[in-house]
Amino acid sequence: QSRGAIFDLDGVIVDTARYHYLAWRRLASELGFEFSLADNERLKGVSRARSLELLLEAGGLSLGVEKKAALAEKKNRWYVESLARMDGSELLPGARDYLLAQRAAGRRVALGSASKNAGMILQRLGIAGLFDAVIDGTRVTNAKPDPEVFLLAARELALAPADCVVFEDAAAGVEAARRAGMRVVGIGDAAILRDADLVVSGLDRLLPAASVPTA
Ligand code: BG6
Ligand code: MG
Repeated sequence: QSRGAIFDLDGVIVDTARYHYLAWRRLASELGFEFSLADNERLKGVSRARSLELLLEAGGLSLGVEKKAALAEKKNRWYVESLARMDGSELLPGARDYLLAQRAAGRRVALGSASKNAGMILQRLGIAGLFDAVIDGTRVTNAKPDPEVFLLAARELALAPADCVVFEDAAAGVEAARRAGMRVVGIGDAAILRDADLVVSGLDRLLPAASVPTA
């Protein structure tokens, strides 16, 4: 029985994976190439800078450092714009209840996200107070699949990696969790999250069924 639960943010707690994709697709289109949902799978879980590298690779482009910094900033501006009206209604099904259930069960709860926008998103969703530790893209130097983000989360929870379970929607995140020596629950498609210990379609699937009123 694990004592700590570490959650990825984008695609696990909130449906921002879609907004990331739309912003990258818009950038690709400005650069003159198509970028499909299937192409986008490799970008999930990895840092903004690494995502841009993968996008440019898909478009067969090689650009200089300054140009890349400007493009990453532009993508982020579009992404942040798309979050402007975000509120608790964009939490994925079961996310809030599952976080509450983990806390009620006495588990320590951390966020382990690659996003530099994670703090702002937690505030907007009104769930910042549900985490005992928040590790995001502003606090790590090595992006997933490097295990740094999860190892730091375990350390801040004062738990051994083997006492933690990770919830992840990205193949890079599943790999990071395994390299950290943690068990991992994949959220999404079992064909993509092959290396997870268990795969479910969403956190709602891990909640006990709502009781049915009898009267
Ligand atoms: C991850 C997303 O959570 O955060 C990636 O899955 C994203 O798609 C990465 O690139 C970095 O996010 P941000 O908000 O710092 O650009
Ligand atoms: Mg994710």
